[in-house]
Amino acid sequence: MSHSTPIDASQPATAVHVPVMADDAISDGNPTRRSKISDTIAIEASGISKTYLIGGSERPVLDGIEFRLRERECVFLVGPSGSGKTTLLSILGLLLSPDAGRIRFFDEQVDGLDEQARTMVRRQMIGFVFQRFQLIDGLDAQDNVAIPLTMHGEPIAMARKRSAALLRRMGLGDHVNALPSSMSPGQCQRVALARAVVAQPKLILADEPTAALDSQSGKGVMDLLTELTDEFNTSTVVVTHDPRIYRYADRVCEMENGRFK
Ligand SMILES: Nc1ncnc2c1ncn2[C@@H]1O[C@H](COP(=O)(O)OP(=O)(O)O)[C@@H](O)[C@H]1O
Ligand SMILES: [Mg+2]
Repeated sequence: MSHSTPIDASQPATAVHVPVMADDAISDGNPTRRSKISDTIAIEASGISKTYLIGGSERPVLDGIEFRLRERECVFLVGPSGSGKTTLLSILGLLLSPDAGRIRFFDEQVDGLDEQARTMVRRQMIGFVFQRFQLIDGLDAQDNVAIPLTMHGEPIAMARKRSAALLRRMGLGDHVNALPSSMSPGQCQRVALARAVVAQPKLILADEPTAALDSQSGKGVMDLLTELTDEFNTSTVVVTHDPRIYRYADRVCEMENGRFK
């Protein structure tokens, strides 16, 4: 797992790849992006189960989930609120342990690792994007984006330089030193996206990344997510409720009561 190749942030953000919308995008995904998907399996999760104690009784939230994500594929997890999407994404992100099931990332078995090893895998392999951005309020945009690089041991001056270049490329050149409180939700999510991709993780996991955004900002974030993940060969899982962005998916998996429909 090498992350030494820096992002080439010198390119402008203008050449955004916008996939053509298919009428039946929900069931068939977007055929224009399929050729990019590799045969390599990026995530293989099998028999994933999780039960929560809710109101004193045990309730299965995930019930024997089988999930595969191929390299360079972008899969959307959709379904009603409470169907288990966030729980599954948290398990795939090694933030939460399942009660049962196996998970592989590429050739590596990643279930059953101790907390320290899980943290290492997360840092090296996964970029997260959340609905509410989860930026650090006291840090400006550049320093928020620099966090994953400094965690990889990159000196702060170099990390800031690369972060600023990526932010400029993402159309945030005027906001490199802005605090999250002075930016719009769309700008904050672009900063969060920059933070997710800056260290070139193999996997991006995004939970409702456009839910707090207006249509235009949501589209801008998804255009950038698509462009950056295509460029860096990232494999992506997006949890969403938002039908406006289904056209960005290669494949849509619909959940209901802790299972795929
Ligand atoms: N930490 C928790 N403790 C107890 N119940 C939880 C917890 N997290 C989620 N749940 C329950 O699990 C179910 C699935 O939640 P979630 O995965 O967040 O669904 P979704 O993201 O599809 O809305 C819901 O009924 C929710 O209330
Ligand atoms: Mg959720």
